[in-house]
Amino acid sequence: TTLPDTVHIETATPAAIAQAGALLRDGRLVAFPTETVYGLGADATNDRAVAAIFQAKGRPSFNPLIVHVADPADLERLVHVTDTARAVIARFWPGPLTLVLPRRANSPISLLASAGLDTIAVRLPDHAVARAVIAASGRPIAAPSANRSGAVSPTLAEHVAESLGARVGLILDGGPCRVGVESTVLDLSGDEPALLRPGGVSVEALEEALGRRLVRPTDHSDAPKSPGMLASHYAPGLPVRLNVTQPAPDEAYLGLGAMDCTANLSPTGDLEEAAANLFALLRALDRPEFSAIAVAPIPDHGLGLAINDRLKRAAAPRKPA
Ligand code: TXA
Ligand code: MG
Repeated sequence: TTLPDTVHIETATPAAIAQAGALLRDGRLVAFPTETVYGLGADATNDRAVAAIFQAKGRPSFNPLIVHVADPADLERLVHVTDTARAVIARFWPGPLTLVLPRRANSPISLLASAGLDTIAVRLPDHAVARAVIAASGRPIAAPSANRSGAVSPTLAEHVAESLGARVGLILDGGPCRVGVESTVLDLSGDEPALLRPGGVSVEALEEALGRRLVRPTDHSDAPKSPGMLASHYAPGLPVRLNVTQPAPDEAYLGLGAMDCTANLSPTGDLEEAAANLFALLRALDRPEFSAIAVAPIPDHGLGLAINDRLKRAAAPRKPA
């Protein structure tokens, strides 16, 4: 792939991180690595900076953003931290878990970032570069995945450059993302903890820590509560077919475990390895010599739940361009 020459990728050295912090304070966009996927960051207290995220991604403004902090203490002036939140924070932060909490009346977070909701989604990433960038900016940082809205999420700096190009001021390169799927989104703003998006922390681990079953998206037949849960998402250019055991000769076959396939998510069937490889392999198989990407069945437990969630959206009917 050729990149436009205005794209600015830099290795995440201390000098580049300091520059990123200064750009963010100045209201500019910076892409940076987290343990899940690359994020497209902006100062979450600056309406114009947040508006620039929606613009760069082509993202509908009713879909709220996650606010990233470098220290749990930074939460207190943004949201009401409930007892349940404190318990899961102690267990899972830093890490791939986002909490939806009630907005404080005097919260400095842009209303655009939270799409006008009375809640804010917050997370503390388990990645030294991400935390250093947030700390260097001295601001809470709104950061969706650094891709055009609806497209496959980036797990390498090059993916960000391919998807957003010169729309980002600076892309910090911190190598491949360890987890590879986005954070789990847990809503703690209501009466019962509710899973809004499966992700890098498994539902099993959360339910064990909370000592109770989570309300799942499928428990309700009405519209999903997380406005970001649009039908078609994570979509490569080619059509995607799921639960395929007999691929057609002209299809790329994305496999799992010991099998004959075009690319393998994890030859040993390890679901964490599969999650880490998912988005990069969807991109790699998205080539004109194939008619479609056929995907082998993926077990629906552990990180398999997040993988299947992303694959279902990648296979969902698309809006006409
Ligand atoms: O791993 C991740 O979470 C990555 C990295 C960059 O941190 N970020 C990410 O952001 O995946 P994004 O914008 O692609 O997804 C945010 C999700 C969306 O489904 C959105 O609707 C939901 O979180 N969300 C954000 N604020 C919310 C709120 N106040 N209430 C309910 N859902 C919310
Ligand atoms: Mg995203």
